[in-house]
Amino acid sequence: MEVVIVSDADAAADLVAGVIVAVLADHPAPVLGLATGSSPLGVYRRLIDACAAGALTAAHASAVLLDEYVGLPSDHAETYRAFIRGELVDHIDLPSERLFGPDAAADDLASACREYDRLIRDLGGVDVQLLGIGTDGHVGFNEPGSSLASRTRIKTLTRATRVDNARWFDDHVGDVPRHVVTQGLGTILEARHLVLIATGPEKAEPIARAVEGPLTAMCPASVLQLHPHATVVVDEPAAARLDRVDYYREAYEHKPGWQRL
Ligand code: F6R
Repeated sequence: MEVVIVSDADAAADLVAGVIVAVLADHPAPVLGLATGSSPLGVYRRLIDACAAGALTAAHASAVLLDEYVGLPSDHAETYRAFIRGELVDHIDLPSERLFGPDAAADDLASACREYDRLIRDLGGVDVQLLGIGTDGHVGFNEPGSSLASRTRIKTLTRATRVDNARWFDDHVGDVPRHVVTQGLGTILEARHLVLIATGPEKAEPIARAVEGPLTAMCPASVLQLHPHATVVVDEPAAARLDRVDYYREAYEHKPGWQRL
């Protein structure tokens, strides 16, 4: 796992946007794994700007969502499909029919989840998966206790996550759905490159547990320790509880020129 510590959220977004731009430039049919929430918003703004400036095209790309709420009407503004369209896809040239998400409104959710894992495989797998981290250590919506080998399935959100996400629902915790469909940790691990972005002091504790704590279902983000190509980009406040900061900085400063993130 590579840990990159940058000064602030803007620098984190610059770095991660650069990873996506490189994947879009290098692959004939790239598959982007997109996260919602606030962590990737700066990245998405940079991709929109680059597309508007003609410096990037996603016309040949596909995108898959990490997760989706269960129980929101399909035209609700806070579905993750609507979120990602509003924050990214509607503003770049990625064809909207190539944005995929789990069908959280299906009558048979279990088979819709299996179908989603199959779809990701049929697309050829995810080239780069963006991730945020929850204050309770979740990735996707794999809450503590999630199997490290889990596949896409329904999960129940913790109270902590529903409180965190109430900001998208006019601060009404009761309006935040209790259930979600999320790519499983095993599904996420199949992406070729995982890039987790975390900024701000409230992420310091979960980042320390994910990066330097034991591999445990109690901190689902610790599953990144199993991945051969995982990059964790944090700003100074989110890095504040890491022990091996000097080593991470030294390794990044002396990274061989040919070795990308
Ligand atoms: C979003 C997702 C979640 C968020 C996490 C952090 O699709 O799967 O894991 O990444 O809850 O959210 P923010 O970035 O809002 O702090």
